[in-house]
Amino acid sequence: MLLHIPNVLNATELKSLQELMAKAEWVDGKVTAGTQSAQVKRNMQLPEESSSAEAARKIVLQALSRNALFFSAVLPKKIFPPLFNQYRDGMDFGAHIDNAVRTHALSGNHVRTDVSSTLFIAPPESYDGGELVIEDTYGVQSVKLAAGDMVVYPGTSLHHVKPVTKGARIACFFWTQSMIRDDAKRTLLFDMDAAISTLRQQHGDTSAVVRLTGNYHNLIRMWSDV
Ligand code: NI
Repeated sequence: MLLHIPNVLNATELKSLQELMAKAEWVDGKVTAGTQSAQVKRNMQLPEESSSAEAARKIVLQALSRNALFFSAVLPKKIFPPLFNQYRDGMDFGAHIDNAVRTHALSGNHVRTDVSSTLFIAPPESYDGGELVIEDTYGVQSVKLAAGDMVVYPGTSLHHVKPVTKGARIACFFWTQSMIRDDAKRTLLFDMDAAISTLRQQHGDTSAVVRLTGNYHNLIRMWSDV
């Protein structure tokens, strides 16, 4: 499932992130790439241990923690500490699939990359190109979102970032290990959760709604690894 989550960041958070990114020092993005993707990766990243990255990560994690849509769609178990990248002057990232497991350099913790997320920080009108192109089961999706919006998609997807020919594309990206490993099961649970919420709004907590909510939780109990 590929999902667009609007307004993940509020205006204050977005402004703080844009300011942090503007004065941060950037390094070659190959530092976090696997052997295959290093050959096709041409961008810049914030060093993970830098104080700007640390401050920016805090803002993003805070925003994620209150986002009900992210929770319902991803059912997060572990989030890899968010990273930040910048593409400019023709930089791009050729087709690749992200590494299956990321090991956090500082903590040594492993995260299976069930879900990939890109949170857009630079406004789309400030740069040309830079579309994130994702091969979804339903075809190829080209994604370039408003600043503060996020796309989540299965970590199993082949994807690339088109060259940025003008301005700078600045974004945050990270991976999540879900309580539900399988994308099809996660998608089913997400649809079910949305339908139950609608039913609850329309009819209140009828006995059927209570039963369906129980079924939702029982499916999570059956499928989750926590
Ligand atoms: Ni990638």
